[in-house]
Amino acid sequence: MALLYKADPVRGERWRALFARHAPDIEFRQWPDVGDPAEVRYLLAWEPPSDLATRLPALEVVFATSAGVDQFDLSQLPAGVPLVRMLDPALETGMVEYASFATLWLHRRLYDYVRQQRECQWQAHPLVAAEQRRVGILGLGQLGQAIATRLSGYGFPVSGWSRSPRQLPGITCHAGPDGLKRFLASSDILICVLPLTDATRGILDRDLFALLPAGAALVNIGRGEHLVDDDLLEALASGQLSAAVMDVLSQEPPAPDHPFWQHERILLTPHVAAMTQPESAFPVLLDNLRRHQRGEPMVGRIDRQRGY
Ligand code: GLV
Repeated sequence: MALLYKADPVRGERWRALFARHAPDIEFRQWPDVGDPAEVRYLLAWEPPSDLATRLPALEVVFATSAGVDQFDLSQLPAGVPLVRMLDPALETGMVEYASFATLWLHRRLYDYVRQQRECQWQAHPLVAAEQRRVGILGLGQLGQAIATRLSGYGFPVSGWSRSPRQLPGITCHAGPDGLKRFLASSDILICVLPLTDATRGILDRDLFALLPAGAALVNIGRGEHLVDDDLLEALASGQLSAAVMDVLSQEPPAPDHPFWQHERILLTPHVAAMTQPESAFPVLLDNLRRHQRGEPMVGRIDRQRGY
């Protein structure tokens, strides 16, 4: 019985060592060394190979190495093969760290101070108390909830929005289309951590920005396709938005002449907010593997209808 791994090859060797030590009954194979496909029961992948059904006829489960699974074409997955997202605690830690950093960067106007330093300009701006800066988390799944809880610890009034209603201590929770308007109106810093689906593609557009308080700021740590790039540029030019922090883009890396590269009010990072770490992800994955082998439900299984 074998597991085929298709993601970052360097981290692949760390996965291999963990399987050899803790689950020797499962042979670890690293793409493109598929070996006998009839033995491959599990796939662990960031981007799956094409023609999954014909290439891996004995496949029983697909595990994503990522929290988001939009890069999988669910219509290509055989009906009986579940897709399971990654719930590595290190991913959550990374997302919480990055969201905290980005919020503080925007809250403390670091984008202005970085520019001022380049211009040898020593000029202070008024300090806004955290209690006066409302943070909104768009997407209150596992990652959004962890971010909301941490940011509220800094003293920011935090609210969150999700498709279906949630309850979270200390966080104002909004849900559904009606809740979205109220939520946006109270988000001075908006953090997108939504899954990418047909319902959320392009959600960060001109219409949404118009519902934020004037001068609000944006953090995107969901997926690049959530954002309409030109609408962000327009909102920054008009002052409707003051600044943005982007870890994901619709094209990664962006073209050399993409306007985001040089924009003074956009901080860009190359999709590094969080990365799955084999050492912390392995116990979660192995637990799910064993559950599957015992015929028990796996944790993090994707609902094909919802797409997340
Ligand atoms: C990274 O983007 C992930 O979805 O885990």
